[in-house]
Amino acid sequence: MLSLEELEQDALRRHIPVMQKEGIFFLIEQLNKKGASSCLEIGSAIGYSAMMMVTHVDDLKVETIELDNDRYLEAVCHIREHHLEQRITIHHHDALTFDTQLLQHAPYDCLFIDAAKAQYQKFFEKYVPFVKEDGIIVVDNLDFHGMVFDIDHIKNRNTRQLVKKIKRFKDWIFQHENYDVEYYAVGDGICVIQRKDQE
Ligand SMILES: C[S@@+](CC[C@H](N)C(=O)[O-])C[C@H]1O[C@@H](n2cnc3c(N)ncnc32)[C@H](O)[C@@H]1O
Repeated sequence: MLSLEELEQDALRRHIPVMQKEGIFFLIEQLNKKGASSCLEIGSAIGYSAMMMVTHVDDLKVETIELDNDRYLEAVCHIREHHLEQRITIHHHDALTFDTQLLQHAPYDCLFIDAAKAQYQKFFEKYVPFVKEDGIIVVDNLDFHGMVFDIDHIKNRNTRQLVKKIKRFKDWIFQHENYDVEYYAVGDGICVIQRKDQE
């Protein structure tokens, strides 16, 4: 069985995107600060961030959704090997078409969005109703390796389109009248979002 540290290294070697260490510890700090007991994650990959969360936050339950079959199966294996089945519920589905009646721990203290970057707004709008009134929404990768700040110089057309979509989400959420947003230059750029007047 691989330790969480080894899992992270192994994922990076195989180019499976997992949250940067700085980012995951920032998320864990937010969850601990809130005394969170539940988190819904969009984008499990091989289960690394979900396992990190439950092993660093007392009594936290994570429910997580993964689209890719191989990654889902690998995540299930790791969760079993680490005996974390009671703390992590994983669904194999496209989060955009997932039947929300199947969510087991709603409402959540935290929604963590870490899946297809072009779809951030759709994930947000679909799952925010399942976040507690005073809950937080954490979104990762909002800088996209700094490219968000210099879109005109991105040569590859697909990358430019993707970065534009990330920026569109960022602008949309920052201007939203119902939410307060804090941006942190941690890892690849993280936002912590809360309904207004909840602090
Ligand atoms: C950045 S990785 C997640 C990393 C993971 N949170 C970690 O830090 O260990 C993003 C994952 O989202 C998954 N994904 C992309 N689109 C999705 C969707 N519509 N529904 C569910 N998962 C999706 C991808 O297959 C990929 O494994």
